[in-house]
Amino acid sequence: MRMPLIAGNWKMNGSLTLVEQFGQAFAEAALAPSVEVCLIPPFPYLGAAQAALAGTPVALGAQTLNPEPSGAHTGEVSAAMLAEFGVRYVLVGHSERRSLYGEDDVAVSARVVSALEAGLTPVLCVGETLEQREAERTEAVVLGQLEAVFDALAPESRRRVVIAYEPVWAIGTGRTATPEQAQAVHAAIRRRLAAYAPELAETLRVLYGGSMKADNAAELLAQPDIDGGLVGGASLKVDDFLAICQSAG
Ligand code: PGA
Repeated sequence: MRMPLIAGNWKMNGSLTLVEQFGQAFAEAALAPSVEVCLIPPFPYLGAAQAALAGTPVALGAQTLNPEPSGAHTGEVSAAMLAEFGVRYVLVGHSERRSLYGEDDVAVSARVVSALEAGLTPVLCVGETLEQREAERTEAVVLGQLEAVFDALAPESRRRVVIAYEPVWAIGTGRTATPEQAQAVHAAIRRRLAAYAPELAETLRVLYGGSMKADNAAELLAQPDIDGGLVGGASLKVDDFLAICQSAG
């Protein structure tokens, strides 16, 4: 059984006040033990979020990392630094990192390896643009992004990755993939995982991301190959995010 994971990616949003608000809300909320929840605030809030979420079941995540262990990389943060703040999950290859900051498959792969070496769980984000979907290249693009990372990983490392399918055209646009569209790509990802090892297809979690909201989460999460959500905009309002977490339980 794959335990659903709902991860809230704040991107470059939020504040210390919002961190406190989330800490309080999740301390009081009755979350089903059958759902895992993760909050992914910007770097400067990790320390405060670690403190605010202590005593709640909510895990902490980070939005990116630099694959180097240390050194002259002004503005960057290493995997070991994230681990010091109790970070469990780290996003890798988010489409905004790929398109705005030039992270290609090689850079994404190096970040996955570095995260794993530090004991973090990488959440590998994959997804096609609208142009690629319209050219019927969705599966080729998504599976290509997956293979660029998985081909280079040892079998035991592959088991420790979470995958997030995020169609780029659905991110922050309010235009969600239909449950059928999402399920079709998730099933293709799972078939590809099965070709690496049947056990991977059984156990790896594949999250959906892209305008997941309180009112569409349940039908997306009901799909057999969708094991949770990577939630951007709707993770900035505690009630909306809680509602999504509850619909996964
Ligand atoms: P969104 O973002 O929910 O605002 O579409 C999702 C993401 O980018 O992870």
